[in-house]
Order: sequence, then structure tokens, then C-alpha cells
Amino acid sequence: MIRPYYFKGDYLEVLDQRKLPFKEEYLKVKDEEEGARCIKEMVIRGAPAIGCFASFCFYLGVLRGREPERVYRTLINTRPTAINLKNSLDRMMRAYKEGRELLREAQRIEEEEIQRSERMAEVGAKLLPDRVRVLTHCNTGSLATLGLGTALGVIKKAKEMGKEVFVFVDETRPYLQGSRLTAWELEREGIEHRIIVDSLAGYLMAKGEVDVVIVGADRITPDYRVANKVGTYSLSVLAKFHKIPFYVVAPRSTFTREREIPLEERQEGEVKSCFGKEVAPKSSRAYNLSFDITPPSNITAIITEDGIIKTG
Ligand code: MRU
Repeated sequence: MIRPYYFKGDYLEVLDQRKLPFKEEYLKVKDEEEGARCIKEMVIRGAPAIGCFASFCFYLGVLRGREPERVYRTLINTRPTAINLKNSLDRMMRAYKEGRELLREAQRIEEEEIQRSERMAEVGAKLLPDRVRVLTHCNTGSLATLGLGTALGVIKKAKEMGKEVFVFVDETRPYLQGSRLTAWELEREGIEHRIIVDSLAGYLMAKGEVDVVIVGADRITPDYRVANKVGTYSLSVLAKFHKIPFYVVAPRSTFTREREIPLEERQEGEVKSCFGKEVAPKSSRAYNLSFDITPPSNITAIITEDGIIKTG
């Protein structure tokens, strides 16, 4: 199975996801400063993956003699929406305050995430019919988690269980997590798929070519509002209109007790260019809101490692 990073004792090797699917290149990360840069610049992304990665970065920062509060702040100020980052760092901070071994805590966070992936996949795959055409958004596989993945984990598990699975992969503008990363993972798994532009989803649903929509989540509030990659809300509206089940797959580490959801706004340049090539007038402004919020009324169910939450 692909891993987004490897812990090497006193440094990390992180797969540079910006280069995929063309190059498999690893960067060396020796402390929290370098780790924070990797998270901010999307070398590593995906809510559970950054949560796990940040816990090892926390350990490395403290190992290098930095003050834990400062290490915590450096890492938490990287990406605001994915709550897994805060949940993991809070655990590391608690371990520090209680005098527990930090490396052991980081390893525990990672092991738990791998187990959660496996259980969510099993719960979710059972819901799918034997022949199914799934539409998914962003990248929610091994690159975004540790283990099988969230939404993509369910898809992989369904295939493993012998179901006939076909996947429509939203390209996921502007960062192209779908066409670059999800398609790459599906290729490796031998799962039949086609990449589509995000705006084709609605028409495919209208033609009856989509049986189910499955996505991941970056943050789920107590009233089950789901923050996920921008475009998720539109998909949920389309699915509801066309009476297609809409599932969110997320581990408990993505849930929060807080009600507010900070939505990350990224640089305009990501929208105004495509892989280094400018695709808009220099003077035009862009609005690069990277996440949106889907209300529970648009969600058929949330699949977690310990069962199914019926929402809509
Ligand atoms: O900006 P990204 O690539 O970190 O966004 C990732 C997503 O939106 C995923 O759907 C989410 O993290 C949940 S699945 C691991």
C-alpha cells in the first residue's frame, strides 16, 4: 500500500504529492518548520494524513529542543479546515503535559488511523450493491489517510469483496486531486474509472449513470454539517435532486465538538493558473475558497469506523 510518508527515526520522508502522477519523489523533513511548510504547500494533504504527519513533526520539533507550545503553534497554523490536524496535535500536547513518550503517542495516532480506515471501508462497502457506479470527489485514498482511505477505501474494499465497481473521478479543480491522485491510486488498484470535469457530474446523474456519490470530510460538527473539498456541496444538491444516495465517509478523528468551521481560502494563483501556466487575465481577481459545507439534510448517511449515522 502507498504511504504518504515514512518515519525514519530522526526524520521523515514525505512523498511529494505535488509531483504525482508523474514523479514519485520524497522530501526529507527533519523538524516542525519543514513539516509545516510541507502541509501548507500541499506536499502532503488530506485530513487524516496531515493529522498523523503533524504528530511526528511535533515529536521531531521537541526532539530538536524546541519549546512544545511553539511547535504546536507552527503546525496548527498551516491548514485551518481539517480538524484532524488539531485533534492530533492536542493529543500530542496532552501526552507532553502528562510526561508520556511522544514518539509512542504519534505511533498510536497513526496505528489508530490505519485501523479506522479498514473498519470504515468494511462498513461502507457492505452498503454498496454488487454492481455499482460511484462518483467521487477529491482524493480520499491512501495518500490522504494512512491505510485504505475514507471514500476511496470503501471503493477499494467493495472491489476486494468481489463487487463490480466503476468510478467517475471528479478532476477536482483547481488542485486536481482527482485526476492526479485518485486516478493514480485507482490505476494501481486496477479499478475501472474515468476522469470527468467537475461540471459533468450533474448531467451524468440526470442520465442515470451514477448509482451513488461517496466523499470524505475535513471536519464534521456535532449537528453533522460536513466541511469537505469545494464542490462537495454542489454534488450533494445534485444527488438530492436526482435521488441518488450521498455518503460521507470519515473517521471519528474528523469530528469536532465545536460548531464553527473555518474555511480555508487559498492563493488566487491556483485558480488563475494550471500547472504553472496562466489561464486568466492578470488583472482579474479569483476567489479560491478551498472547502465548502454540506448540510445533513443533503447527506444520506455518514459512515464511520463504528457504524452508520443516518442524517438526511
Ligand atoms: O485540500 P486537500 O487535498 O487536503 O483536501 C482533501 C479533502 O478534501 C478530502 O476529501 C478530505 O481530507 C477527506 S478524505 C481523507
